[in-house]
Amino acid sequence: MNKRPTDYLKYFWPMRHYLVTCGTGEGANIIAVSFCMPVSKAPPMVACAIGHGMYSGELIQATGEFIVNVPPMGLKRHINYCGRHSGRDVDKFQATGLTPLPARRVSVPIIAECVAHMECRVTGFVVTGDKRLFLAEVLDAYADEEIERGLRTVEYAAGEFPEWVYGGRFGSGASEE
Ligand SMILES: Cc1cc2nc3c(=O)[nH]c(=O)nc-3n(C[C@H](O)[C@H](O)[C@H](O)COP(=O)(O)O)c2cc1C
Repeated sequence: MNKRPTDYLKYFWPMRHYLVTCGTGEGANIIAVSFCMPVSKAPPMVACAIGHGMYSGELIQATGEFIVNVPPMGLKRHINYCGRHSGRDVDKFQATGLTPLPARRVSVPIIAECVAHMECRVTGFVVTGDKRLFLAEVLDAYADEEIERGLRTVEYAAGEFPEWVYGGRFGSGASEE
């Protein structure tokens, strides 16, 4: 049996993409995140890895809150935008036209156009190489009623290796804007 070296990340794909909101009010920001996963059922917890130096990491560190918003595939251009621009330079809500709405348990806004939302409070973090892995309790989770009741299905945003890992474009219809 012949084996050869590989890029370990390749075998984690396809990965789902999320739009994580952080910060509050006029200063709220959106970051595209794929390194995000459930890590406990009771209490419900998630872990999200955010690169050092990213504006979102600073906001999450400062407020101790973030929201994992689940975008349908139809938002891929917005995901691409939020994953290629920094909130330090641009207001991503304004630039993408995505709609901030008040959340239930945290002061960070949800994104109205996403279909599910996990409101999270940070419980700790671990520095992992080039990222900070935020561990957080899911204080509240809810989704569009039609989807919950099985009346509508959506294709969730996901991508194939190596489209963003190696700087490729996100999906065929995505533009850099
Ligand atoms: C599809 C996609 C997934 C991404 N996933 C992550 C991720 O899991 N963690 C991360 O730190 N950056 C990830 N990025 C890159 C950040 O979204 C990007 O660096 C962003 O501009 C940071 O924004 P900020 O400076 O406003 O925080 C991803 C980008 C894309 C396009």
